[in-house]
Amino acid sequence: MELELPDAAATQRLGEDLGRVLPAGTILLLSGDLGSGKTTLIQGLGTGLGIVDPISSPTFTLVNEYLEGRVPLYHLDLYRLDGHEVNDLYLEAYWDEQETAPGIVAIEWAERLDNLPPQAVHLALTYADHGGRNVTLSTQNPSHRALLENLLSHGLLVDEV
Ligand SMILES: Nc1ncnc2c1ncn2[C@@H]1O[C@H](COP(=O)(O)OP(=O)(O)OP(=O)(O)O)[C@@H](O)[C@H]1O
Ligand SMILES: [Mg+2]
Repeated sequence: MELELPDAAATQRLGEDLGRVLPAGTILLLSGDLGSGKTTLIQGLGTGLGIVDPISSPTFTLVNEYLEGRVPLYHLDLYRLDGHEVNDLYLEAYWDEQETAPGIVAIEWAERLDNLPPQAVHLALTYADHGGRNVTLSTQNPSHRALLENLLSHGLLVDEV
């Protein structure tokens, strides 16, 4: 499904809507060019989860963890890593619930991942002609798909932007 995000507030709002409904264990894979809105969306996600700490991209650390919301949020940004480095990190630990407190894992620059978690929600952001952004949401996971369709059918994702 594809949505128009006319301004940064719309990107933020999409994140908030997702943050209110997505269950622990969700992996969000964000892709898109520099400045396409990945961090903005994750900031909204944090708001939707009830996180009040300001969210900024983990540039010098690999991951920022926020434990104060409805479920934990793990924010990763792979921008500075090459493929070998990403593989060496064993990020699978983040979607293996035996190793980490189950939470929502949001990964910027998910294009860098060779081994994609099969049940992830993909958010691909692109620049739109009018200065805003477009986002394509997709997932193979039936329960996540149902959640996204439910958000859409209630107009939460589009009407309020
Ligand atoms: N839908 C939108 N329309 C217009 N501007 C937007 C939209 N969403 C976000 N922005 C703006 O785009 C800029 C870059 O956003 P952001 O930092 O979230 O991008 P990013 O994808 O995380 O960038 P990077 O690739 O550097 O990590 C910010 O100024 C933000 O406010
Ligand atoms: Mg960013």
